[in-house]
Amino acid sequence: MIPARDFVRALTEDNARFWRDRDVRLDPSADPARRLEQIRYRMRQGVYNELRSVELIAAWIPHVPEPEIRDLLPGQLDDEHRHYRLLRGRLLELGEAPDAYRPLPEWEALFDWLVACRTRPTLEKLAMFQFAGETQSCEGFETLIALAADVDPDTAALYRTEILPDEYRHAAIGRRALILLADTPALRQAARAACVEMNERVFGAYRAHRARTDRNA
Ligand SMILES: [Fe+2]
Ligand SMILES: [Fe+2]
Repeated sequence: MIPARDFVRALTEDNARFWRDRDVRLDPSADPARRLEQIRYRMRQGVYNELRSVELIAAWIPHVPEPEIRDLLPGQLDDEHRHYRLLRGRLLELGEAPDAYRPLPEWEALFDWLVACRTRPTLEKLAMFQFAGETQSCEGFETLIALAADVDPDTAALYRTEILPDEYRHAAIGRRALILLADTPALRQAARAACVEMNERVFGAYRAHRARTDRNA
């Protein structure tokens, strides 16, 4: 078997390969007004997703028996709750109506599925959400920050200074779980399959998200 770190690196590359040109939520070539609309929609998605992440971590904690992983999750729960409050506060500041926080069906389905995965092995759960999901979130936030820099610099700064550093830490929890728990070829295969499953589902949500923003344009 290759060393654990090499396995994690290879899986990181596989995931990055899957995601090349697949984050369709934002369109870098859109004119500034359209870009701003997409960013606002993405913030509303963020309010919803951050709050569901709190619920998700809370649901998973009792089903993570490994103390060295379980002990990292309450800190992540705190972070996601803070992100929810920050994004919601920013939208209120921008004059968004509270009904903008209603569930978005594609994301509701994704989080319902993730919550239902709570009894799956820790390795698979963390490969899905913290490793594959949060790593892709970091990429998505990097893109969002770059595209918001000229049209909404305050929001870009909020993501860059208050949210992104935490999300990198959450992705690192996923890597730690893989290094600690994926110690047989069969477990590594299960972790790889869990990443594929997650990536496919998130990509489905991205496409539905984009179709909705295009409809609303
Ligand atoms: Fe978050
Ligand atoms: Fe996170």
